[in-house]
Amino acid sequence: MKIELLEEVTSTNDFIRQYLGGEEDVIVCAKRQTAGRGTKGRSFLSEEGGVYLTALLHPKDLAADRAFLMMAHAAVAVCRTAEAFGADPEIKWANDILAGGRKLSGILIENILSEGKVHASIVGIGLNVGNDLAALGGIAARLCDYSACTTEEVRSRLIAELRKKSGFSEYLSYVKFCGREISVREGAREYPAVARRILPDGRLEIEADGEIRSLSAAEISISAWRQ
Ligand code: BTN
Repeated sequence: MKIELLEEVTSTNDFIRQYLGGEEDVIVCAKRQTAGRGTKGRSFLSEEGGVYLTALLHPKDLAADRAFLMMAHAAVAVCRTAEAFGADPEIKWANDILAGGRKLSGILIENILSEGKVHASIVGIGLNVGNDLAALGGIAARLCDYSACTTEEVRSRLIAELRKKSGFSEYLSYVKFCGREISVREGAREYPAVARRILPDGRLEIEADGEIRSLSAAEISISAWRQ
């Protein structure tokens, strides 16, 4: 596996696209990004002190309707890394990792599908380590508040975890909100629901107004669950 570390880049997810077409897995890391991207077209603030990396992976024989396993794999790698540095992480479906209820990490996956399979997966991870969180207004967490750690140590650990195997059941073991009440935003509508379970294709099954529905992260976002 080729591993590159850049001082500065627009977005590691964009930079890594030059390697598409090859068969080799590649990881590109950057000390900072000037145009970091999040999900749903949002930007992702990427100041020095955080870990910003993208892995270009070539899963063997992964059906397109199981593409969520790439997200699950990345989320588990982040959770294991966070635990190694003293945090008690949980996954906020589908792609955020929280510590102490605040966002520690976000994941942006871009899959390249071919003939019903995931041919390549661009797995982008941003993880707060020692970066200044002031601009994020109290909604973010960082690893250096859990243990004395450097960006380099966290980056190495995350790469090591990405190279290990993980499965959907491990993803579920870090999801804590099933069975609880949540607030669902669907377009302009916001309504209460109970989160039932996450399906293997990554959709969330909810119960609202006596009806059970399965919705993707592209269709809804969720917030404010209670014990
Ligand atoms: C999110 O929280 O919405 C996802 C954030 C993903 C950020 C990472 S940082 C490395 C990679 N490069 C990007 O531009 N985005 C991802």
